[in-house]
Amino acid sequence: MQDNQAQADYWSSESGLKWIAFETELDLAFSAVDEALIAWSAPQPGESVLDIGCGTGATTRTFASHVIPGGKICAVDISPPLLRHAQSQSDGATAETRYYLADAQTDQIPGAPFDLVISRFGSMFFADPVSAFGNIRQQMRPNGRLVLAAWAKVKGNPWFEVPKDGATEQLGSLDQSDPNAPGPLGFQNADRVVGILKDAGFQNVIGETIRAHLTHPGPVDRVAALASNIGPAARILKKYNGTAQDIDEITRYVISKFRDFEGEKGIRIPANLNFFSARNLDLS
Ligand SMILES: C[S@@+](CC[C@H](N)C(=O)[O-])C[C@H]1O[C@@H](n2cnc3c(N)ncnc32)[C@H](O)[C@@H]1O
Repeated sequence: MQDNQAQADYWSSESGLKWIAFETELDLAFSAVDEALIAWSAPQPGESVLDIGCGTGATTRTFASHVIPGGKICAVDISPPLLRHAQSQSDGATAETRYYLADAQTDQIPGAPFDLVISRFGSMFFADPVSAFGNIRQQMRPNGRLVLAAWAKVKGNPWFEVPKDGATEQLGSLDQSDPNAPGPLGFQNADRVVGILKDAGFQNVIGETIRAHLTHPGPVDRVAALASNIGPAARILKKYNGTAQDIDEITRYVISKFRDFEGEKGIRIPANLNFFSARNLDLS
């Protein structure tokens, strides 16, 4: 089985730590994703929840407020600095919340078994996804639910397409890699992921592309700075050792395109997301 050390390194590097620097912007923009995760997974008071790849912990905190009274939540991440940050943000005002440094592909997670396992953009990075979801499933209660949010393909997803175009124009392209390789777009092929979840032993597996809007009160330059510093632009900047001036140029490009999404209530960027749900019906 391949390990996930490269992901642990990436998410602990300067590129990964931008998720802390832009935390406020990201959590505003991605709150629509949390809403969809809540709608798909229907967390109940008293349930025990696992958040995979919690990052800075916004989704953990959202779910913690949906399982009171009596519920608890475990949040795991492979990046020590992101996990430490999530832990420092925990307000302790809602459900009991525990944070663990873990590779969800291989590790036994304290707090198992779980009624519900969720992830906002944290489950597309496994080197061996069938093993990973097999390991996760074994830590779920019989009849437990799994709900994942991931990105659909770049085309039609301006959040990815625009900064990628800007960074490619400024610096160059990323190598033509396997479109399903571990990474932010690793789950863009919903049928393939449905197959992975079935191979990992899940049943009632559904994969669907949904339309959402990433919204932010603005101004547009904050949102553009965010999109220019994470995702594909970040990976291109890392590959070409991009400078602060390169980031400024990419951000200028993104601002010019994101203006199209500006309205009275701020910025509304249409997004295609792949959502997955599945059950652990293994009653053994
Ligand atoms: C795109 S970020 C999403 C963070 C957070 N869920 C959010 O939406 O803000 C992906 C997260 O998955 C974590 N991650 C990647 N591979 C992992 C693994 N094998 N086990 C646990 N966490 C992992 C990364 O460290 C990172 O924090």
